[in-house]
Amino acid sequence: MKITVVGAGAVGATTADNIIRRELAEEVVLLDIKEGVSEGKSLDMYQTAALLGFNTRPIGSTNDYEKTKGSDVVVITSGLPRKPGMTREELIGINAGIVKVVTENLLKYSPKAIVIVVSNPMDTMTYLALKESGIPKKRLIGMGGALDSARFKTYLALAMDVSPLDIHGMVIGGHGDTTMIPLTRLATYNGIPVSRFLSADQLEKVAADTMVGGATLTKLIGTSAWYAPGAATMMLVESIVRNQKRVVPCSVYLNGEYGQKDICMGVPVVLGRGGWEKIINLRLSDAEKAAFEKSAEAVRSMNAALNL
Ligand code: NAI
Repeated sequence: MKITVVGAGAVGATTADNIIRRELAEEVVLLDIKEGVSEGKSLDMYQTAALLGFNTRPIGSTNDYEKTKGSDVVVITSGLPRKPGMTREELIGINAGIVKVVTENLLKYSPKAIVIVVSNPMDTMTYLALKESGIPKKRLIGMGGALDSARFKTYLALAMDVSPLDIHGMVIGGHGDTTMIPLTRLATYNGIPVSRFLSADQLEKVAADTMVGGATLTKLIGTSAWYAPGAATMMLVESIVRNQKRVVPCSVYLNGEYGQKDICMGVPVVLGRGGWEKIINLRLSDAEKAAFEKSAEAVRSMNAALNL
């Protein structure tokens, strides 16, 4: 198994670090355009092998795509992150150019790879990668829902004073502060609806905190987060390479599912060796359906800015 992560910044390096610690591949390539950064970070990471006990060696590459040749999974994290007060959508212009070039280069050397897009605005970048590359839709996955769902579970666990491990819950829709849809109605604590433990006001606050989860961190840190984004991306990679068939909300190309066509948005999918293998069709309430429709409109208007 060979995995490439493009972008050796905060999210890319954390993703690669998580991948090597779990030994998800024999080869992991970390690529960045900044001279020396991916090589330096790879060596720094490899120096933890003797301390933490793993055998996978990451290889750094300054923009040399030859080194990524034959990758089974490629992860795109290259692009600008947001600063305090910025929305993910404001990154579109510069990141579109980067994602386009990076996708082309990656697929030139790894035409059969499964592609995971992390760069923001993620749903639009995933759509762009699909339109520009013509890659089969099942091999293209946008990472957003996995992170938003982890944040949702964390806020639920904090409100209930329980372990996040015992919470199940999903966030679907677009990966934006106003477009994501935390499914509070379907969230459970060990199979019991969380509405048994939290009031409607508490649940509303959890949903609101989840939606601005990224913005809250950006305000505190001064740039966007990386620990949870890196772990969430690794989790998608793990389900694919170990063929775990986990169900995770991911941004995928919809062709009528959830009432939407020709758009990439977050819905629960089964992740295995083939990429996303199937879409899980949740029975949404009327309010959830309306929220999904509204979310789709926002993602569509963002896509329109690309003139695809
Ligand atoms: P960062 O600035 O720390 O790292 C980005 C890296 O990309 C830099 O090292 C830069 O040199 C590199 N880069 C830029 N153009 C490149 C190119 N053409 N080829 C190769 N490398 C290139 O940013 P960070 O925090 O790692 O975020 C990366 C992206 O991920 C941002 O767009 C951010 O908004 C997004 N993000 C998405 C999340 C999600 O849930 N989908 C969560 C967190 C961040």
